[in-house]
Formats: sequence, structure tokens, C-alpha cells
Amino acid sequence: MSSRKRIGILTSGGDCPGLNAVIRGVVKTSGQLGYDCVGFLRGYEGLCDPVQYMTLTKKNTEGILSQGGTILGSTNRGRFAATCNIEDRVGLDPDLLEAVGVTVEQLDIDGLVCVGGDGSLAIAHQFHEFGIPVVGVPKTIDNDLSATAFTFGFDSAVACATDALDRLHTTAASHERVMVLEVMGRHAGWIALHAGIAGGGDLILIPEIAWTFDEVCRKIIDRELNGRRFTLVVVAEGAALPQQGLVATNVEGAQARLGGIGPIVAREIERRLGKETRTVILGHLQRGGTPTTFDRVLATQYGAHAVRLIVERRFGEMICYNPPEIGSVPIAEAVNRIRVVDPHGSAVRAARALGISFGDEAAPHSPFARPTERCDELRPSDAATAEEVEANADFALEIAEAAAEEALLD
Ligand code: F6P
Repeated sequence: MSSRKRIGILTSGGDCPGLNAVIRGVVKTSGQLGYDCVGFLRGYEGLCDPVQYMTLTKKNTEGILSQGGTILGSTNRGRFAATCNIEDRVGLDPDLLEAVGVTVEQLDIDGLVCVGGDGSLAIAHQFHEFGIPVVGVPKTIDNDLSATAFTFGFDSAVACATDALDRLHTTAASHERVMVLEVMGRHAGWIALHAGIAGGGDLILIPEIAWTFDEVCRKIIDRELNGRRFTLVVVAEGAALPQQGLVATNVEGAQARLGGIGPIVAREIERRLGKETRTVILGHLQRGGTPTTFDRVLATQYGAHAVRLIVERRFGEMICYNPPEIGSVPIAEAVNRIRVVDPHGSAVRAARALGISFGDEAAPHSPFARPTERCDELRPSDAATAEEVEANADFALEIAEAAAEEALLD
């Protein structure tokens, strides 16, 4: 074994563009400071039973800056799942913690960089409490981690959704159709909001603003009356249906799997207005591909500063971005609050000023007037009740069947 000190790194949870840029940032910075680097495979799983890792060098991380995904692999399932819903934390098995401690000691790891979202950082926090030297790096395309203005991966996801809207725009206009684009965003509507603004969306439906089909249809009719015979709707997967709540499938021992609200919205628009409507669910396309310039810069800085935290022995802290500076906060602080879109914030108000509707009651006189509030607390719950999930699943199935039938008729 090398006599140099070692830094460990792992990537956990859902992947996103920029993970490799963090890995490269950590490897290059560690090398400059006289550390060796090892990467644990498949997220936290690689830490024990069996221990799986690879030595990371400048050579074997060459060219990964622009690659999507993670060369170390990742998982959001398995023995280290520490969260079911936002407030539903699960304590890790003490034997597991013990085994991780042994690995860290045996491999002479001076500090472990855990790159992950809310759930993964909740695990890192448990490691810290157990005495394992960890630092956190925030990642998620959803951009919903409090304590950091941006997580890397978000900008790339928004770029993907914006590109989809640009493409939908031309075909929607040609066919005079309504196009519904469903994007990711479990608890927060950041992707929908930013892509909707960047891609010229007409209606943006997000979890933070209660909306109704009446208002959605009213906006479409208004456009028709003004000679705009097509409409682009962007809907976040976590934007609850009026009365029916989240469209989700419950998964045993894990977070509910969201998705499927887009076709329901499209179907209802078509039913009410008799207007041809189509849906695209963008899904995991938003998580793949090459990171944008912004995400590369952010991820690289996160990697370098994570090494700094280890050198400064600031364990239990997470890197964060408070523009223009990269700082850090206790991981505990970062995992307890979700950062959602402010319905009164400047982006929403600017969108309204442009005439974009959020599917809520439009302010008649001032576009800058306050929208209908969903809740002051800004803590949407991920927990669809079993009845909600069942009802929505039935509804979604009905719609999928009808769509399949229609496709056959076409
Ligand atoms: O949290 C990031 C995210 O991409 C969410 O937007 C989405 O709901 C979820 O992960 C999907 O996870 P999975 O890859 O397990 O389907």
C-alpha cells in the first residue's frame, strides 16, 4: 500500500451530468496536494461486503470532464437507502456503519467525498455522526437542495428540456396542436420553470402553485382568440393533479416513483376543448448526456473545494454555492430542508409579466400581482396516499389504453 495519504470518493443516488467532472476535480486537486485517490463503486454499496473500489489517477480519469453519468457507477436503491420521503428518514443498520468504518480505516482513507442528493447526503450525515470522516457534494437535476443556490446537473437538465420545447414548438405550430411536455422535478418545479421560460412555454404547471384545468383551458382559449392556434404546456412530474394529487407508483421501501401526469393533463385538455393534444415525457433523457459549461465549471469547483474541506478537516460539511462564492454548510443543515420555487419570486413574476400562465387564477390587472398560494410553508409532501396512487394508476391506465386504441385507429 502507498505511504501517501488517501482520499476516497463515491457517487450516490440518481446520476446526473457533471458527476465525472467532480471526480476529475477531486483526483486532480488531491494529486496536487500529495494525496492518492480511490473511487468506491456503485455508490455506498462499494464500501463493504464486498468492498469494491478502483484507484483513480490522472491517467484513468483523462477525458471524463465532458462525459455524462459516472465512471464509478451509482444506485438509489439497496442497503444504504436512508430516505423514503422527505421527512421519512431511515436509520442505517449499525453493523453496516461498523463495516464502512473498517473499510475506511483499512484503506487509510483520510476523508471520503460523498456526492449525492438529499437522500444520499442523509447517509453521509449518519456516517459523520458515527465518526467516519466525510464531506458532502450536492448533486441533483432537480435543484431542490437547500443551502446551495445551484446543484450541478440542473443546468444540463434544463438545457435538455429547453431543446425539447424548441422542437415541440415548431411541430405544435405546424399542426395547431397543444403539446404537453412532462419534465422531472419531484418536490420542486425548477426544471419546468426554467425550461418553460427558456423554451417559450405558455403554461407551466409546478408543485408549488395550485392549478386547475379550468384555468389551463382558459389560457389555451385566450391564445386561440388571439390567433395563436397552438400551445406549449410544461408540467413537472410532481405537480399534483387538482383534487387527485400526485401521479405516482408506490415502491416498496423506496421513494414513490413519479411520472405520468403529462398524458393525464393532455387527455383532459383534449376532452374539454376538443383540441388535438400530444404528450412527451422527457424522463431520463434529462439525466443523460454531456454536462453544460455551467455544470462543468460548478462540478469542477465542487470537486476542488471538497478536497479543501478534507485538508482543513472540516468533516460533516457540504460544499455549497452562494454566488459568487463556493462555501460550505453542515450536512445536517442541508438535508433537512427542500428548496422549492418561490411562487412570489422574480422568475415566476417575470414569467407572469410575459403572459405565461401557471394554471392558477390569473391576476386581472397587474401581472406582478401575487399568485394563489398553495402553502406558505413551501414543504410539499411526496407521500401520495395509497388511495391516491391507486386512483391515479387506474386513471393513467385508462388513458394509456385509450391512447393505444387511438394510435391503432391512426
Ligand atoms: O431526484 C432526481 C430524479 O431525477 C427525480 O427528478 C426523479 O423523480 C427521480 O430522480 C427518478 O429516479 P429513478 O432514476 O430512480 O427513476
